[in-house]
Amino acid sequence: MEEITALAKRRGFIFQSSEIYGGIGGFFDYGPLGAVLKKNVKDAWWREMVERRDDVVAFDSSIVMHPRTWEASGHVAAFHDKLVDCRNCKHRFRADHIPSLDKCPDCGMTGTLTEPRNFNLMMKTAIGPMEDSSAQAYLRPETAQGIFVNFKNIYQSARKKPPFGIAQIGKSFRNEITPGNFTYRVREFEQAELEYFVPQDGRDLEWFERWVNARKQWYSDYGIKPDRLRFYELTPEERPFYAKAGIDVEYLFPWGWGELESIAHRGTYDLDRHIEYSGKDLQFFDEAAKQKYTPILIESSAGMDRTTLTMLVDAYDREPVVEGEKQSERTVLRFHPKIAPVQVGVFPLARNKPDLVERARSIEQALRANFRTQYDEGNVGQLYRRQDEIGTPFCIMVDYETLGDDTITVRNRDTMKQDRIAQAALTEYLRERL
Ligand code: GAP
Repeated sequence: MEEITALAKRRGFIFQSSEIYGGIGGFFDYGPLGAVLKKNVKDAWWREMVERRDDVVAFDSSIVMHPRTWEASGHVAAFHDKLVDCRNCKHRFRADHIPSLDKCPDCGMTGTLTEPRNFNLMMKTAIGPMEDSSAQAYLRPETAQGIFVNFKNIYQSARKKPPFGIAQIGKSFRNEITPGNFTYRVREFEQAELEYFVPQDGRDLEWFERWVNARKQWYSDYGIKPDRLRFYELTPEERPFYAKAGIDVEYLFPWGWGELESIAHRGTYDLDRHIEYSGKDLQFFDEAAKQKYTPILIESSAGMDRTTLTMLVDAYDREPVVEGEKQSERTVLRFHPKIAPVQVGVFPLARNKPDLVERARSIEQALRANFRTQYDEGNVGQLYRRQDEIGTPFCIMVDYETLGDDTITVRNRDTMKQDRIAQAALTEYLRERL
């Protein structure tokens, strides 16, 4: 993890937020490559979950919602961690993270820890100029509630009837007590949530299975190593009382298994609660049956920062390289080509030969129409190493032969093999492989 964190900083994937002021715990910034990587991850989710389906519509709700939302959702009453304070050293711990409540894990004193107290994880903010309790609001701890409270607006305006889904990607905030493991547990993060509403026709568990399979397919399509991914089935004791089924998608990080996504059968709980708290009718009216009912909800909720981190960790590799007599090692990120921030690097063999530079630049510019590209120049070995480290699947070299016969070499990131092909065939060559 230390190596990956160092690489992420060195190459511009992820920086600590406000680093020049000493950083701020649980917040991170995405650098030039990280911003593209995360966007590619979100686009990949959006493409499969929304654009390639005719039963899912798009949505984008506000981060701050009416405070009653969080009473209805249960977050005001139950979105807690239990905390204990040490009266001696003043440190604060999550009660379930320390071995015993007798002795402070920090200063070692016995009998100094307070009784566990509830700490709400929602981040507070104030609206308008008065900071009294009437102005208090929260930054949403999940995007899902924006979908539930708009259920009627959406199905009526989009002319949808169950089974259909509503998808949203957006920021969520949780005042985590112990942020950590790089971007795994943070206080500001992005969620990609799909809320899929199904009729009360006895096929709800079938729909749950279908979504579990769709999500399995997604992780497989984007190349996550199957032996580092598992779909953990929650026991009835581990599920909320209203949930009929639940699966956590987990990845084997360097520190152990960690949750990336939760897929849940949530019954009618969420709509029922908003009907109760708002007094508004959020049921679906089935025109054909002339009947009203509350649809059953299947939810898939994935963390985009955790998925981006997974792509980095899963892609990270170091391997020995033998070049003639010389033995060395290279670091390579084996990103899926659709996820890789740069897909094609283009270089001239020598930076001081205007003909080569001009040709390389014009090839790179022409490729931009179809691929994510980068022009670079310098020492050839170093150029390849740099592109390996940022996970670029193909590199194009323009040399003296290019000027004579219009051929170029294409180097494959994973095999390091080079093909010499006609410049005119390049786009097709890359399209097939990317
Ligand atoms: N609406 C359901 C929901 O929010 P969740 O299991 O609490 O369910 C879903 O969160 C996903 O959001 C998690 O699987 C995780 O990927 C991401 N997530 C939750 N808390 C996070 C945090 N503090 N930092 C980064 N990602 C987080």
